[in-house]
Amino acid sequence: MTETMHQITLAARPEGAPKDSDFALVQAPLPTPAEGEVLVRVQYMSLDPYMRGRMDDAKSYAAPVPIGGVMEAGGVGEVIASNSPHFAVGDKAFGMFGWASHGCLPAKEMRKLDDSLPLTTALGVLGMPGFTGWYGLTELGRPKAGETLVVAAATGPVGSMVGQIAKARGLHTVAIAGGPDKCKLATEKFGFDVALDHYAYPDAKSLRAALKEAAPKGIDIYFENVGGKIFEAVLPMMNTFGRIPVCGMIAGYNAGRLGGVAGSGPDRLPALWSSILVKQMSVNGFIISNHYDHYGKFLAEVAPLVATGEIAVLEDITEGLENAPRAFMGLLEGKNVGKQIVKIG
Ligand SMILES: NC(=O)c1ccc[n+]([C@@H]2O[C@H](COP(=O)([O-])OP(=O)(O)OC[C@H]3O[C@@H](n4cnc5c(N)ncnc54)[C@H](OP(=O)(O)O)[C@@H]3O)[C@@H](O)[C@H]2O)c1
Repeated sequence: MTETMHQITLAARPEGAPKDSDFALVQAPLPTPAEGEVLVRVQYMSLDPYMRGRMDDAKSYAAPVPIGGVMEAGGVGEVIASNSPHFAVGDKAFGMFGWASHGCLPAKEMRKLDDSLPLTTALGVLGMPGFTGWYGLTELGRPKAGETLVVAAATGPVGSMVGQIAKARGLHTVAIAGGPDKCKLATEKFGFDVALDHYAYPDAKSLRAALKEAAPKGIDIYFENVGGKIFEAVLPMMNTFGRIPVCGMIAGYNAGRLGGVAGSGPDRLPALWSSILVKQMSVNGFIISNHYDHYGKFLAEVAPLVATGEIAVLEDITEGLENAPRAFMGLLEGKNVGKQIVKIG
């Protein structure tokens, strides 16, 4: 058994986009599991946009990672030592092991995985992001056949789940994605009816003009993943009784804010509020960690669809823990194509 493990810690709080020197690769002794704990060799680790927020020392729904602390992440791997009756050596498990080659957690904080689907699916399509898309759409978006849905970051694990579930329920689905290749994936792999490349439209006005063609009956559900220019383009196109599950605003994460409307200011806020009133819209922010009571229902519905290929899966796998910071920087710039994962061991 390895005597040491590798971890990536937060070396400095980024100003704007993270850079190499904000991270440090360190070695630590391999822990011995205490009573009730399990030691796992991490095989794959998830990289997710929320991690950018954890790097800032700002008030949010979760505490920041302290300077010198291990970056937070979900991972999947193999149990190599167990001090719990619930896990045996060789079992596969998911847990919040961090950016690390190994993790030692109480058994009650881990989930056992079976071999029916590839391990990586527990990080993406059947993990936190896929669950987020399914929950936000079905519970907050309340989709109905014949309606129109728009989602950006549409080829990522959240957006692609939203699009596929909405399509299966008979909605007209419009993807917004970065670049022609991602737009092609959106329509050909994930079944969106139309895809718009946000890089092709320099401002909200030109994007809105394209959206008017893509969504001629207006928009009933805008699944908010990005904020910024896309939100500004979409908002005036929302139909009466429209729903906006507010999931993320990645356009603003590197600016240290949760998105926002380009060119917005206090003078714009009353107009925004009145459109919510006049159109009787439902705008629901949600943080998925508060909704895991629905996770069993999600798995029961979606895991069989993944197994049969009815829900398509796209993963972008980077090799090596040491390459995680670069992969993460790329994710925040849209360089990932599909769910960003790091293969560790
Ligand atoms: N509320 C929750 O509990 C919760 C849980 C999970 C995820 N989320 C949020 O859901 C969203 C999607 O997450 P994900 O894991 O599926 O990520 P993802 O799609 O794999 O990756 C992020 C994508 O965002 C897009 N993007 C980045 N900067 C952008 C910008 N300035 N303008 C437009 N698009 C930009 C890029 O796609 P393109 O190249 O296609 O533009 C990039 O590939 C994020 O906002 C995330 O924070 C929220």
